[in-house]
Amino acid sequence: MAILKIARMGHPVLSRRADTVADPTAPEIARLVADMWETMRDAPGIGLAAPQVHVPLRIVVFAVPAHRLGEAAGVPPTVLINPEITPVDSVAAADWEACLSVPGMTGRVRRWLRIRYRGSDLDGRTIDRVADGFHARVVQHECDHLDGILYPMRIEHLVDFGFADEIRRAATAAVGAGELVPEI
Ligand code: NI
Repeated sequence: MAILKIARMGHPVLSRRADTVADPTAPEIARLVADMWETMRDAPGIGLAAPQVHVPLRIVVFAVPAHRLGEAAGVPPTVLINPEITPVDSVAAADWEACLSVPGMTGRVRRWLRIRYRGSDLDGRTIDRVADGFHARVVQHECDHLDGILYPMRIEHLVDFGFADEIRRAATAAVGAGELVPEI
């Protein structure tokens, strides 16, 4: 395994539409995903998309700790290949996000509150889940990376964008109860 270099906003690999993975069970895909996990944990982050490590393929990984969800259980480490997202209803909410490709920054972004997401795992089996809240936000953020979209492009008011430590200092209660928003 290897820790890969993370692309930052401005690199063209983050702006293009990533390609569909022809065979999710191919050994080179498993190797890439192993390196993505190592890179994500080293960063540290709680999600990573393949374009963020300069590979324009439709692959995301994420693992959300329980305390980030305010629930007893977190989201287990999940690999989604060729994912699709559909909103469950029309309810959206704005909340803070941060991204490993936009280091040190945070911004408030509107996302669907409840989604259904589907994709393949590394064994070619279908993952099909309904998610809400921060879980749904993480998946939407990661899948945006596959379409060349970074979260600052979705910020409605630029006053809701800035350095994470400054925003946390100014509005502790608004940003993860004093904890920095995890980068994904
Ligand atoms: Ni990101």
